[in-house]
Amino acid sequence: MYAIEIKGLKKSFRGMYALNGLSMKVPVGSIYGFIGENGSGKSTTEKLICGHLSKDAGTIKLFGKDYTDAGVRVRVGALIENAGCFPGSSIYMNLKMQCLNLGISNADEEIDRVLKIVRMEQNKELKFKKCSLGMKQRVGIAMALLGSPALLILDEPINGLDTDGMRIMREILVDITENYNCTVLISSHILGELEKIATHYGIIRQGKMVQELSAEEMESRARVFVSFKVGDMQGAKKALEKMFKNVREESGYLRVYDEENTEAIVEYLVSKGYVPSEIKKNRVGLEEYYIELMSKKENA
Ligand SMILES: Nc1ncnc2c1ncn2[C@@H]1O[C@H](COP(=O)(O)OP(=O)(O)OP(=O)(O)O)[C@@H](O)[C@H]1O
Ligand SMILES: [Mg+2]
Repeated sequence: MYAIEIKGLKKSFRGMYALNGLSMKVPVGSIYGFIGENGSGKSTTEKLICGHLSKDAGTIKLFGKDYTDAGVRVRVGALIENAGCFPGSSIYMNLKMQCLNLGISNADEEIDRVLKIVRMEQNKELKFKKCSLGMKQRVGIAMALLGSPALLILDEPINGLDTDGMRIMREILVDITENYNCTVLISSHILGELEKIATHYGIIRQGKMVQELSAEEMESRARVFVSFKVGDMQGAKKALEKMFKNVREESGYLRVYDEENTEAIVEYLVSKGYVPSEIKKNRVGLEEYYIELMSKKENA
């Protein structure tokens, strides 16, 4: 069973399709990284799942049930755009009001529980407007966690956070999925960060799913390359191209793709009079995988 299963989802704004037959499968227990360029339809998808927008066509199932099912709706928490907090009220008061909205009876206990998850139990009395951006995002997540949702939907929660803010957010999201039985759908442009936590990826373009894959699948498909510097980059590149198929110059380094045998490359270069330095074996990361996938689609 999937936490989210979408088929043929369509949504248009003023006659223009934002989503044009989107499909999506988010496994239970995953941290699903939702990736796509600006305007590709990520936020629209998330708003539809949350019922903030109405769809034109298609089906959305959450935990096997139609997304309008009241029993399933209460299992969804979301942080889309901003936390929707009252700036002049304390974190505690904001959470308390949300507890009242949701009909949560043991509010104080529940507030302590969610503040602990987002590591903010010491900041209960702080006014929302006094919070840093990172803290505001965490309060937003605390709000979304009220009532123990089984699915958490987060739209760009790490945008604008500093390194420490991102690290804390990473720890929180892993904690939520591993220890609180929650599935997380997270959209982000910060692929390097996403890569550290996501177990699955969905890549969307112009309102359609281009590819869904697990982190393991991405890892196994990702190309390996050997990178190094030499004094005469152009000369070395020409020489390498006679022997190896995929040679590229990237950010001041020569790269030979799809070649596992570093020694063979080095030996060949030296035999041609080029002595390489800073030799490194790498694997293409999420960012490059994404860029390559997008350029293939563009040329298709
Ligand atoms: N309320 C709206 N009214 C009109 N057009 C909209 C509305 N919401 C979204 N759109 C359009 O739908 C398309 C998809 O937008 P969406 O916000 O879902 O993209 P996104 O992938 O979240 O982009 P970003 O990375 O910039 O957040 C865009 O062309 C956008 O202009
Ligand atoms: Mg968006």
